[in-house]
Amino acid sequence: MATKNITKYSPGFNITDVQKKYNLKKIIKLSSNENPFISSKVENYINKIKHKINLYPNSKPIDLQSLIAKETGYRLSQKNIILGNGSNEILEFIARLSLDRSSEVIIPKHSFLVYEIISKLQDAKVVVSKPDLKISSPNYLGIDLISIREKITPKTKLIFLANPANPTGTFIKLSDIDAFIRSIPPSINIVVDEAYYEYLDTKIDKSAASLVKKYKNLFVTRSFSKIYGLASMRIGYGISSVKNIEKLKLYKQPFNTNLFAQEAAAIAIRDHKFVIESKRNNNIVSEMVTKAFHDLSIRYLGTFCNFITFEAGSRSSELFKYLLKNGVVVRPLANYKLEKYLRVTLGTKREMNIFLKTLKSFYNNVK
Ligand SMILES: Cc1ncc(COP(=O)(O)O)c(C=O)c1O
Repeated sequence: MATKNITKYSPGFNITDVQKKYNLKKIIKLSSNENPFISSKVENYINKIKHKINLYPNSKPIDLQSLIAKETGYRLSQKNIILGNGSNEILEFIARLSLDRSSEVIIPKHSFLVYEIISKLQDAKVVVSKPDLKISSPNYLGIDLISIREKITPKTKLIFLANPANPTGTFIKLSDIDAFIRSIPPSINIVVDEAYYEYLDTKIDKSAASLVKKYKNLFVTRSFSKIYGLASMRIGYGISSVKNIEKLKLYKQPFNTNLFAQEAAAIAIRDHKFVIESKRNNNIVSEMVTKAFHDLSIRYLGTFCNFITFEAGSRSSELFKYLLKNGVVVRPLANYKLEKYLRVTLGTKREMNIFLKTLKSFYNNVK
């Protein structure tokens, strides 16, 4: 079988592997953009003694879809929602629906690696658009919509946009996305991946879900793995027109989301207090880390998510190893063509203090 020249996705380090390798008692995992907290309401549900684990889960969780539609707003209905085994699965359904060997897909440089993997699995040609290179811009290395438009050809069938984006942490205004979609042929499907949308401060902008009724070629994806703190459950969702959702459902296994994931998602999406507290912690530690970066003259990219990508220059792999040996796991970004950068997830205050202390000791001692 052909390997299709696919760069494998490498997830953040497994804690037990790192512990064994470096003989460490404690590890702080700041490599996969997980929420450091768990909703106590979700925990209470999981801690219940009895669950119907012997029975198949609901294959059509309409109540959960309705709840998601209601919480999302914009007068969406449950028919506009599809649930997935993580939002990754929805991204994959969209790639399978949109792409074949004769198509081109446009992916912004430094994007989430899964876009490229699932596109290549469809044998589509991957076209990479240029990043925003204005160094003074808060969108530095983020998505450049003009470059994307320049890359469109009659073969373009799909465009991936993450907003806010991983790993650059950058954000583009919804009005720009709206104008962009209006300006391109409606035969091109657009994904706006909003895995980190809930971290945006005081909803500085509406979600692209508000445009789903306007554009038939728009697909929005959301995740329960980030602010809702359910990464291990594997649950996310897609939002699009009723017709598109019906098409995506053809790719869905009957029981793609499990019992715990469905129940926990229904609890988590209603636990507004937990979301507000998670965001509050995120803002506090974000300020704390960026202040320390300023003091250390470390440059960093966008701060719209629950992680910060920072420049470590030619010593990035040395710093990565130093942090690892001291029990702090961050993410190297060579796979994202950001060799000089590392990405740190924003954990608890305590975790970030340890990260910063270790970072400072590197710059003070390893010179
Ligand atoms: C931009 C982006 N999209 C999607 C995902 C996938 O999230 P999920 O856990 O919902 O599959 C991630 C996870 O890191 C991400 O960073």
